Amino acid sequence: MPTDQHLFDQIASDLRSTGYSIQAQALSPEFVSKLRQEAQTAQASKQLKPAGVGRNAAFTNNNAIRRDDIAWIEGETDIQAQWLEWAARLQQQMNRQLMLGLFSFESHYAHYAPGAFYKKHVDAFKGQANRMLSVVAYLNPNWQAENGGQLVIYSEHDDHKEVARVSPNEGTVVVFLSEEFPHEVLPAKADRYSIAGWYRLNTSTATRVDPPQ
Ligand code: OGA
Ligand code: MN
Repeated sequence: MPTDQHLFDQIASDLRSTGYSIQAQALSPEFVSKLRQEAQTAQASKQLKPAGVGRNAAFTNNNAIRRDDIAWIEGETDIQAQWLEWAARLQQQMNRQLMLGLFSFESHYAHYAPGAFYKKHVDAFKGQANRMLSVVAYLNPNWQAENGGQLVIYSEHDDHKEVARVSPNEGTVVVFLSEEFPHEVLPAKADRYSIAGWYRLNTSTATRVDPPQ
């Protein structure tokens, strides 16, 4: 997968037609195994912290909504840099093919211990020009159906209508429009590792007249 061009073409085409894309074996086992090792080491040394809900003043650790532990990926290690480089290529391709105007990217490792879940939510609220595109990458080899932890995606028109259910299997990548698709993580019954990331628009230009005078 020297350039991942076929993968990115497929994701762009899915986003154009349905607004979401599910790609098995999008990341190589070697790449995923290094990411997983780093996430597991971070977990073992207690660098992953309970995730919160809401932003700034509204931020709370609401463990009725989500129970995953997270660590933001800043690019400090080779493997983190490699992940950010992959995410930057996805961003560039989506901007070229769909003209989304994605400007920045943020992502974190997540660990769901047995019993952990993330209730139905959307990643962004309409009109706030914040998160535009969500990406999730799964790091778990040989994930079994009975391990639970599936990602359930609901219709953008009816948040009770399930449109997809994804097993968090190693190498699978899911991409979807952040404002459109409610989704949830079913309770995991085994340790579940993933990376969740979001592309944002350039909010500093969102209110500017286009083209500038
Ligand atoms: C999230 C999220 C999905 C997953 O972190 O916002 O929805 O499958 N994660 O881990
Ligand atoms: Mn989410």
